[in-house]
Amino acid sequence: MRMTTRFIASLLAVLAVVAVALSPLIGGLISRWFQRDIEIRSGLVFHTLEAPLAERLGRHDADGIRTLFDDVDRDERVAGVGWCDARNVLVHRSRRMPDGFSCRFAPATTGEPVFRSETSFGRQLLVGAFPLAGGRLVIVHDIGYITDRSASAQGYLVVSLIVLAALISMVTVLVARLTLRDWLRTVRDSFAQPVASAAKPSSADLAPLVDEIRQRLRALDGVRRSVDDFRLNWAPETLAAILDRELPDSEVIVVSNREPYIHNLVDGRIDLQIPASGLVSALEPVIRACSGTWIAHGSGSADNLSVDAHDHIAVPPDAPAYTLRRVWLSEAEQDGYYYGLANEGLWPLCHIAFVRPVFRDGDWQQYVAVNRKFADAVIAEARTPRPIVLVQDYHFALLPRMVRERLPEATIVTFWHIPWPNAESFSICPWRGEILRGLLGSSILGFHTQFHCNNFLSAVDRFLESRIDQEEATVTHGGETTLVRHYPISIEWPPQAIRSLPPAAVCRAQVQERLGIGADVRLGVGVERFDYTKGILDRFLAVEALLVNHPEWVGRFSFLQIAAPTRNRLPVYQQLRAEAEALAERINARYGRPNWRPIVLLAEHHSPVEVFRLFRAADVCVVSSLHDGMNLVAKEFVAARDDERGVLVLSTFAGASRELLEALIVNPYDTAGMARALVAGLSMSGAEQGERMRLMCEIVKENNVYRWAGRMLLDAARIRKRGHLLGWMETMN
Ligand code: G6P
Repeated sequence: MRMTTRFIASLLAVLAVVAVALSPLIGGLISRWFQRDIEIRSGLVFHTLEAPLAERLGRHDADGIRTLFDDVDRDERVAGVGWCDARNVLVHRSRRMPDGFSCRFAPATTGEPVFRSETSFGRQLLVGAFPLAGGRLVIVHDIGYITDRSASAQGYLVVSLIVLAALISMVTVLVARLTLRDWLRTVRDSFAQPVASAAKPSSADLAPLVDEIRQRLRALDGVRRSVDDFRLNWAPETLAAILDRELPDSEVIVVSNREPYIHNLVDGRIDLQIPASGLVSALEPVIRACSGTWIAHGSGSADNLSVDAHDHIAVPPDAPAYTLRRVWLSEAEQDGYYYGLANEGLWPLCHIAFVRPVFRDGDWQQYVAVNRKFADAVIAEARTPRPIVLVQDYHFALLPRMVRERLPEATIVTFWHIPWPNAESFSICPWRGEILRGLLGSSILGFHTQFHCNNFLSAVDRFLESRIDQEEATVTHGGETTLVRHYPISIEWPPQAIRSLPPAAVCRAQVQERLGIGADVRLGVGVERFDYTKGILDRFLAVEALLVNHPEWVGRFSFLQIAAPTRNRLPVYQQLRAEAEALAERINARYGRPNWRPIVLLAEHHSPVEVFRLFRAADVCVVSSLHDGMNLVAKEFVAARDDERGVLVLSTFAGASRELLEALIVNPYDTAGMARALVAGLSMSGAEQGERMRLMCEIVKENNVYRWAGRMLLDAARIRKRGHLLGWMETMN
């Protein structure tokens, strides 16, 4: 608007100056036209008078001449008529001839009529002299009206020019604005659209421009990404710096189902628990670095006793760095949303573990209602219209769109912590369209691996009306674009839990003593939630196969399984626990000895420090997931081994196997193969262990959780900047 006003004002000013400069010229021109007109009229008068006047002069008929002159004099513009003789004496004159007019005012003639302007007698006169009968006829016109008319004509002209200029400038601006709007819309649409799928701008003229801008932005993104990728030493300070530099004044809000700190009432006192959740262990260091607010379900029995009137509590309790906002759920909500739709429906749907998903309509209703409840909490916590909302996992597939509808300028980054199934498997979900649409409310949707991104894109392709740009990894649906990228999650580096622990040898002695394991017995460990996706039964079978095929290990190897109880209201989890306990018992009964058990199963929750102590004590760590998004246990084991010892046996179906290539990679369905891997691990030389551990340590250190979050935040910043660019184009509209 300001540009338009400036354009019109300057155009008007230029045209006004031109009009004012031209006006005297035009005034002179008009005067000359009028004067010429009077000269012609004078000529006509002369021709009319010529004959009768000559005749009356010949007769010295003074009265007749006077009558003749007075007839002409009646014309209001004629100021007088007279005749000068050869001696230059005004012999005859009309009545209205100005008093004092003499022949010296009349120009001399040499045969041709001559005109002269005179300003005399207080008037402006045009005096014409025509040779006649040895003297000259003098016709005097009052031309004062010419000056008046020329002045008003000049005035009209200037005003008309200014009006014309105004009209021209308005039409020009209108046409320019319409063209610009069209241009901007085309450019904007071209950016909202992916390149591959019909992304050519509607105007062929703009195609090169759009391509140029797109290529430059892409090149810039590419350079920045590679710079990000090569940046080493990702630390909490790096995240803080990214927020400060790239996303200034942004508030960070995390939403997850599981809370990072649970307060439980145990024997009448409040006990603090850090839950066994990969999501929590990855996100907690990130939110500590960013401050902000974490919204989660208050699931502990003493949670409501620990919050303030706004359901807030500052955490971590010993060194508060951010705010935890607890959301309360009724039994019915937990049953439908958490146990039902999330853990009996989506969890088995997304994991290939051959557990049939259960979809109940009532569960879905609760899932929708709880997603809305958490979306309300996000809106209530947001202090600005443009927060960065980090949405976590399959509990909140609908929340991104719900937040987007109410905070359209928010940057919503959703991370799906579990695998995404292929389109065929996903198609069995009765609410597949709603789930996809909900997730596409996000600005960024992240998965652990490119494979899961591809699965998601093919589900969108199959079930939603949308445009997918494979090259830019975006989905455009309902006019909004979501970037779909893989961000392999990780752990903090160095891990906090390791700081308070003694050297590995001491940890080993402590664990042996606690479990009553002899000093000469080698130790294998597995640490997870008691979940059917983790392949716990399969690794027990592998331990049995090891003892059968390599009896030399009987009495010399124990496998310690920590399995934190989880979701135990669900029959499939109860069944797994019963089966695992029975299997461990059977194997122990068959191969065990009075002071030695091949399998030690502890179905209890362990704190992060205890878990790290076990990792440091172990010879082998087994992660035999049947299917896993990433699996942070594998990375934690590596991070725990600053002594560069220990062997990781890792399932090929865990996302971590894409990064930890020096692990012994196994197929958990191949019991004999896993047993061979155990033997290989137990027999591996110290040098080889060190070599493999060093390489894996480098990877975990470099690809730590700060880098995971940092890459998402950098992408969020890029998206925000593009949004600013488009917003700026909007204001020019
Ligand atoms: C997986 C999920 C997390 C979840 C965790 C523990 O890691 O991706 O979202 O928090 O399991 O499960 P729970 O149901 O106890 O929160």
